[in-house]
Amino acid sequence: MEIMGRGFKQIIQEMPCYIHIFSKFAGYRLLHKKSPLYGSADIINVCNLHCEHCYWWLNRKENEELTVEQWKKVIDEKFKKNHVFIITLVGGEPTLRPDVIELFIKEFPKRICIVSNGTIPLKKFENLYFYWISIDGTKEIHNKIRGDQAWERTRKNVLDYVTNNGEKAWKDIWITMTINSQNYKTVPDVIEEWYDYSNKIGFQFHTPFMKNDPLWLPFGPERTALVDKIIAMKEKYDDDYIINPNSQLELMKKNWGGKGTVPVDCPTWAIISVDHLGREKQPCCIGSAESKSMKPICEECGLGCYSVLVGYGMKG
Ligand SMILES: C[S@@+](CC[C@H](N)C(=O)[O-])C[C@H]1O[C@@H](n2cnc3c(N)ncnc32)[C@H](O)[C@@H]1O
Ligand code: SF4
Ligand code: SF4
Repeated sequence: MEIMGRGFKQIIQEMPCYIHIFSKFAGYRLLHKKSPLYGSADIINVCNLHCEHCYWWLNRKENEELTVEQWKKVIDEKFKKNHVFIITLVGGEPTLRPDVIELFIKEFPKRICIVSNGTIPLKKFENLYFYWISIDGTKEIHNKIRGDQAWERTRKNVLDYVTNNGEKAWKDIWITMTINSQNYKTVPDVIEEWYDYSNKIGFQFHTPFMKNDPLWLPFGPERTALVDKIIAMKEKYDDDYIINPNSQLELMKKNWGGKGTVPVDCPTWAIISVDHLGREKQPCCIGSAESKSMKPICEECGLGCYSVLVGYGMKG
C-alpha cells in the first residue's frame, strides 16, 4: 500500500506527525484556527538558468547566503516550532547547495522535496521524500523557455538517476509542469515522455506579475478545454499518476485566489515560506520578504500548492 509515495511502515512511523496535521485540520474546520501545514525555503540565491517565465529572478537581489548553522536556526524557529509536515526546497536552483539539503533531510527525514531544473546530475539523498523536476513542455518548447540544451541535460540526469540508483529510483522523480500560453498544447506529450521515468506528474499554471503577461493562459474556452482534457487523462494513466485532484483542476479554470494582487480565498497561512536569508515571504511562496517588491497577480494565479488546499476546502 502506498499513499502519496509513502509506504505503510512509514505511515505508521510518522503517526505523531499525522496527529499534529490532523489536529491542525480539525482546528481549522471546527475553530477556524490557522496553523501552517507546510514549509518552503529558498535555500540558495543562485540559479544556473534564466527561464523566461520565472518569478524568482523578478525580485532577486545580490545577497549573501546563509550557512548551514544559520539554516539550522531557521529550521528550528520557523518550521520545527510550527510542526510543519512537508518542506519544499526551492531557489534559485537548490541542488547547488547539497550541504543545506543534507541538513534539511537530517532534520525532516522523508519529509523534504527538492524542486529542481534537473540540469545538474541528481544526487541520491538517503531519506529524501522526492525530487520535483520542472518540465515546461516537449524538447523544443522547454528549451525555448529554459535555454538551449536544458531539456537534453535534464532528460539525461533523470534517466541516469533512475538507472543508477536501484529499481525503485523512479519513485523519487515527480514531474512538475507549469502550463503557459507557449506550452499548453504539449501536455499530453509531456505525460507520454516522462511516464516511464517518474512516479507522478503535477500541473500548475503560470502566475503573472504584470497584467497582459503573454505567458499567462487566459481563462476561457482554451484553458477550460485543457483542464477538462487533463481530468479525462487521469482515467488513462493508472496509480494516480496525474496527481492533481479534480477539485483543484476545476479551480484552475477561473479565479480562485484573490482580487488584484491581494489574496482573498487563497490560504496563504498554510505554507510558511522563507527566502534565502530565512525571512518570511509575503503574500506566498512566490512573493518576497521585501515590501517594495513585484507582486504576483492573485486573480490570475495558477499555483498548485495553494489551489490544492482550496480544492480541499481550506481558505484564506
Ligand atoms: C522558481 S523554480 C526553483 C526551482 C528550480 N530552479 C526549478 O526550476 O525547478 C520553482 C518552480 O516554480 C516554477 N515557476 C517559475 N516561475 C513561475 C511563475 N511565474 N508561475 C508559476 N510557476 C513558476 C518553475 O517552473 C519551477 O517549477
Ligand atoms: S531554473 Fe528555476 S529558479 Fe532558475 S530561472 Fe528557471 S525556474 Fe527560475
Ligand atoms: S498563491 Fe500567491 S499569487 Fe496565488 S493567490 Fe495565493 S497569494 Fe496570490
